[in-house]
Amino acid sequence: MGYVASSLEGSDAEIVSIAVRPGHRRCGIGRALMMHTFVKLNAFGIRRVTLTVRPANRPAMQLYARLGFRSLRRIRQYYPDGSDAIEMQKELSGATRAAGASTSSGSAV
Ligand SMILES: CC(C)(COP(=O)(O)OP(=O)(O)OC[C@H]1O[C@@H](n2cnc3c(N)ncnc32)[C@H](O)[C@@H]1OP(=O)(O)O)[C@@H](O)C(=O)NCCC(=O)NCCS
Repeated sequence: MGYVASSLEGSDAEIVSIAVRPGHRRCGIGRALMMHTFVKLNAFGIRRVTLTVRPANRPAMQLYARLGFRSLRRIRQYYPDGSDAIEMQKELSGATRAAGASTSSGSAV
């Protein structure tokens, strides 16, 4: 139904990709995948998560804002089609730290 993939470097991680099947969107899956990922990343010692998103992608922009990401900067002509990207960042809190550990850096449902 959906997946999220992240890459880790030091105490930072990047959300590389997230998608939910069209027929299952707006049911809380994207949010659940991201929350699960935060717990895993925190268990790996990750403290900061970044991602890039097209500003026209309203569902994704809204999802990230609801999850506490803040916009850092606009990156001109980031995508192959010449579109700009918004770089967003979130600091992970210690609250998710105790909730579980895993050796995986991806999640799927
Ligand atoms: C972005 C995406 C992963 C969201 O997944 P989802 O399972 O539909 O998201 P959720 O149901 O968990 O929604 C969580 C919140 O995100 C926001 N949101 C999600 N879809 C939205 C939409 N179509 N319009 C506005 N806000 C939306 C809402 O704030 C929502 O909370 P609410 O339902 O309480 O209002 C999904 O739309 C998707 O797969 N899009 C195509 C791939 C993509 O664009 N990936 C991101 C690339 S950066």
